[in-house]
Amino acid sequence: MNRTFIAPSLLAADFANLQRDIEMVNQSEADWFHLDIMDGVYVPNISFGMPVVQAIAKHAKKILDVHLMIVEPDRYIQTFADLGANNLTVHYEACTHLHKTLQTIKDANMKAGVALNPHTSIDVLEDTINDIDLVCIMSVNPGFGGQSFIENTYDKISALKKLITAKKTSTLIEIDGGVTSKNAKLLIEAGADVLVAGSFIFKSQDPLKTIIELKDTIA
Ligand code: DX5
Ligand code: ZN
Repeated sequence: MNRTFIAPSLLAADFANLQRDIEMVNQSEADWFHLDIMDGVYVPNISFGMPVVQAIAKHAKKILDVHLMIVEPDRYIQTFADLGANNLTVHYEACTHLHKTLQTIKDANMKAGVALNPHTSIDVLEDTINDIDLVCIMSVNPGFGGQSFIENTYDKISALKKLITAKKTSTLIEIDGGVTSKNAKLLIEAGADVLVAGSFIFKSQDPLKTIIELKDTIA
């Protein structure tokens, strides 16, 4: 089996103790930091912006996986590159010229990701999959942590896996929303490579132990 990754979402961290929570992830078996940027327009919620990302980047010692839930993401590609993002994911639904956006992200030396809302079919990626490093399948409607997992996600993973195989690419499949130790194994078996988990990790009694539990489940 390919390598699989766990990406704790800092949206569920304690913002008054952010450095403590970042150090916890640094010390843990988790692989990436997942950072959710929400603008209150593309999604109904506003999360955090550049000064906070800058503060996170100062302490985080792992890959910064930035998920932009914003309109007109092209305006901020260079900004996030300068802040230290390693992966930059834009929403398919927010991009009029997706192919161009992906090239701009890569030209800024980041991995290019595309996120799909629950209502968006995998088929829309047929002509761009070879240019995408990571597809983020939203398994909840974007905007909030702590929502319940949408079961149709499994079918979408299978469809995406088929497309990736047919087009002979090495695109990673990331699942974002409602991930717990109950669905983690099934998601990996269906073909996922990266699991984002917010509430399940940060709202647990012992986040370090929860990350180990998730890692063990998918090993
Ligand atoms: C939702 C965000 C997710 C969120 C996941 O819009 O993109 O990354 O933080 O949170 P949980 O794991 O709590 O569903
Ligand atoms: Zn996210």
